[in-house]
Amino acid sequence: MSSPRCTEIEENLDDTLPDHPTSLTDAELSRRSFVKAAGILTAGVAAGIPDLAAAEDTQAAAATTPHTATLTLKVNGTPHTLTLDTRTSLLDALREHLELTGSKKGCDHGQCGACTVLLDGRRVNSCLTLAVTANGAEITTIEGLAQGDTLHPVQAAFLEHDGFQCGYCTPGQICSAVALLKEHKHNTLSTVSFETGNTTNPELTDNEIRERMSGNICRCGAYPNIVAAVRAAAKGVSA
Ligand code: FES
Ligand code: FES
Repeated sequence: MSSPRCTEIEENLDDTLPDHPTSLTDAELSRRSFVKAAGILTAGVAAGIPDLAAAEDTQAAAATTPHTATLTLKVNGTPHTLTLDTRTSLLDALREHLELTGSKKGCDHGQCGACTVLLDGRRVNSCLTLAVTANGAEITTIEGLAQGDTLHPVQAAFLEHDGFQCGYCTPGQICSAVALLKEHKHNTLSTVSFETGNTTNPELTDNEIRERMSGNICRCGAYPNIVAAVRAAAKGVSA
């Protein structure tokens, strides 16, 4: 839709320029009319700049004005009521507001898996999950896997098989592996399952484990031991 200023400019231009040139003579602009038209355009654009700037300011202010929501995050069995900026990621809610720093921020872009947690039993990248969307859900982080002093079987397997070096990716690897075992138990298939044609209760081969853990990057390259740990945990976890 044209703004009033644009309409004025268009009308003035209509007065200045021929509607439909029918010949070279008609189409020719005299130097005088050209300069007049250019002057009108320049004045119009210049007059419009403050309006544009004001609109941009309004947009910027709207984008930076926080909108908050009060929500309840059930983390490792404990409900926490928080009032958060609606743009807060689940990862930031856990780390910055609940001081649960086990989940790591590797990339903050859904590329490394260091922030993996379980949301109603399913693995998610918490850096890509808005905290408001987890309202009321059961969230399990690495801090909630052990039962007292008894490690979760996947944690024990990672220890037993040296499935880490610096340990930065390890909370995400372990949460991912816990979900992987549940997915396998429920006959969830992977690309490897289809490639091998093994689509009914596929055996959890090393290739299956590698494929199913491919969302979790380890910059230390501890992959062989991670696979060994998941393989061992799979044998120890009832299916
Ligand atoms: S921090 Fe979430 S995927 Fe990397
Ligand atoms: S153990 Fe260091 S990043 Fe995986």
